[in-house]
Amino acid sequence: MRHAALHPLTEEQREIQNVAREFAANEIAPNAERWDREAFFDESLIGKLGALGLLGMMLPEEYDGLGLDTRTYLMALEEIAAADASTAVLMSVHNSLPTQMILRFGTDEQKRRFLPRMARGELLGAFALSEPEAGSDAASLTTQAVRDGDGWRLNGAKSWVTTGSHAGVIVAMARTDTPDLRRGARGIGAFIVTPDLAGFSVGKKENKLGLRASPTVSLSFDNMRVPGENLLGDASHGFIYALQSLDNGRLGIAAQALGIARAALELSLAYAAERKQFGHAISEFQAIQFKLADMAMRIDAGRSLLYATADAKDRGEPIKHFGAMSKLFASETAMRATTEAIQIFGGYGYVKDYPVERLFRDAKVTEIYEGTSEIQRVVIARELLGSL
Ligand code: CAA
Repeated sequence: MRHAALHPLTEEQREIQNVAREFAANEIAPNAERWDREAFFDESLIGKLGALGLLGMMLPEEYDGLGLDTRTYLMALEEIAAADASTAVLMSVHNSLPTQMILRFGTDEQKRRFLPRMARGELLGAFALSEPEAGSDAASLTTQAVRDGDGWRLNGAKSWVTTGSHAGVIVAMARTDTPDLRRGARGIGAFIVTPDLAGFSVGKKENKLGLRASPTVSLSFDNMRVPGENLLGDASHGFIYALQSLDNGRLGIAAQALGIARAALELSLAYAAERKQFGHAISEFQAIQFKLADMAMRIDAGRSLLYATADAKDRGEPIKHFGAMSKLFASETAMRATTEAIQIFGGYGYVKDYPVERLFRDAKVTEIYEGTSEIQRVVIARELLGSL
């Protein structure tokens, strides 16, 4: 390609991108089709990603992290997502949610206890906010935490927990207010839950449309005693911590979506150059060229918005608004790009002989999890109207 590099890379960024790209090419891409077909999660990925530093990308070096900026993390994530969105969601959730929540709101003791092992890939992190009856309306969650001596007892069920079946650390939100004095979003705590706690169990693994190689499970807390030292920060601020963290998590999902969209574009370019109809490669037809041009434009626009938002975050500015825009734009780009890729491939796009149908199935969830597209629009509109 002859166009300018819109986001020139630093030496460090090029190095990290190469590490992720090589890992994706050698360890992930050759297996992605089979993992999807068999809905198989290769547990050895956790240790391998950890060994490369890809599970502690934004953690400080004192906790065995790479201490990188957000943009560099997102570049690596896009590389992994372009090979396999299932592996990318593990990396996104782990790096953006539980590790960052402990780093930001944890005590020194909690940070020392969990973060180095999370960075090295010895403990995988998960995030448990949603419940069967609390999805977009996350503050309506009902899992109850009751004080029990110097600790807590938790009762309830969590749903849609990414890699919850393999996590060593789960940051779970539970009500700390009482049924006679409900305090809404201000009556929820965040707890560090480990699977060894009595009363913890992993429930059903979901049979999903896409991201089939990423286990999504429900969790049950049955009179589960959580030691007092596992409470994260203030017992009534857990929902706020979770939403603040989701502002960052949504950047990871945007990078994942852009990786899926980029893979759809690259496959489409190669196929369009090769496939001949009416005596010409189909890439010579404007109907196909326009699709390719639109895909490329949206991917570059999405990446620019995402990187500008990542840089704003690293400058310490609030990113709720632009984080929601980044995730919304990137996920709709992934859905459009994969839909167009199937159209370019025609019948071959509709069968499992080519990877574009997997990309299409994987793209859909980026419009749903970590806040649906409708919730992102709510967040954006509230910011706009609030600032009038
Ligand atoms: N950062 C910090 N605080 C925030 C915040 C943010 N981004 N958004 C809201 N808050 C605060 C508000 O200021 C408010 O505080 P006060 O009580 O002091 O006023 C409090 O949180 C409640 O806010 P709202 O009144 O706006 O709450 P709401 O009930 O109207 O809901 C919402 C807001 C935007 C709809 C929110 O519930 C939401 O984002 N829902 C989607 C949930 C979601 O993204 N779930 C994803 C689950 S994780 C996942 O997908 C699984 C995975 O593993 C990939």
